[in-house]
Amino acid sequence: MNNRTLGIIGGTGWLGQAIAEALLDSGFVAPSELLIANRSGTGDLRPGVRVLADNQQLVGLSDIVILSIRPQQFRELKIDARGKPVISLMAGLPVEAIRAATGAEQVIRAMPNAAVEIRQSYTPWYSAGSLGAEQGEWVQRLFECVGTADQVPDEDCIDYLSALSGTGPAFPALLQRALASQAVAAGIPAAIAERAARGVVVGGGQMLAGHDPGQMIEVLMAYRGVTAAALQSMTEQGIEAIIGRGVQAGAQVARHGL
Ligand SMILES: NC(=O)c1ccc[n+]([C@@H]2O[C@H](COP(=O)([O-])OP(=O)(O)OC[C@H]3O[C@@H](n4cnc5c(N)ncnc54)[C@H](OP(=O)(O)O)[C@@H]3O)[C@@H](O)[C@H]2O)c1
Repeated sequence: MNNRTLGIIGGTGWLGQAIAEALLDSGFVAPSELLIANRSGTGDLRPGVRVLADNQQLVGLSDIVILSIRPQQFRELKIDARGKPVISLMAGLPVEAIRAATGAEQVIRAMPNAAVEIRQSYTPWYSAGSLGAEQGEWVQRLFECVGTADQVPDEDCIDYLSALSGTGPAFPALLQRALASQAVAAGIPAAIAERAARGVVVGGGQMLAGHDPGQMIEVLMAYRGVTAAALQSMTEQGIEAIIGRGVQAGAQVARHGL
């Protein structure tokens, strides 16, 4: 599927444009092979990229179509994409709804996250219908332009992962805020509490890039010191179950539609 024309409906939006820019920067597509559509037909993309106001025109000129509009905007979208692969980035919209609204048989659902901005998204993707090896490799390489990616075996994985990896910085942000506010409650000056919490989430998170988290916890528990006491207390209070229930609550929203 090299040198195919790729059309992104919503390619001037927050997610769509970040992906478009990464695809161009990495040379995955040339500007002449990229088409963007939105309602105004204008956008701030590099020279050579065509921006259209007509979604159907984009579909007609594209070999593959990416849908990067909001789910509520999808309800008003009218395109006939019969015979073309459609890649949906929309959360909570099942394959059958995308097939019914576009006529496309080959639908791929993918769920990047906000880290596309720094090209460190984790993007699971699911293909409904059989996908040739070459096409599968192309989709994988497309999402590797914004980080790492995996093909997943069924559609429910996408709905569950929408509430896990799709949330991007949400959980680290929650942890950082909780650490900072609890430190303030314990009497630590606010500015110091903020920096300490940031050091844990951002600095500690970067360390995990090169370490297995299970081994890291085992090593820290083996010290039987301050860190072990904090970890043990959180574990005994059911932190894993709290996280599990929270992610399931998000997944239920993804499963039942937005
Ligand atoms: N943000 C995330 O972290 C994230 C993560 C995973 C998945 N997603 C999914 O990504 C999708 C896009 O989210 P976003 O945050 O990028 O939204 P956004 O910034 O609002 O972008 C929406 C884009 O769609 C265009 N658009 C809206 N209605 C249109 C229509 N009828 N025809 C053509 N273009 C239209 C908009 O341009 P005009 O207004 O100019 O038409 C804009 O370019 C959502 O479905 C979301 O579920 C987002």
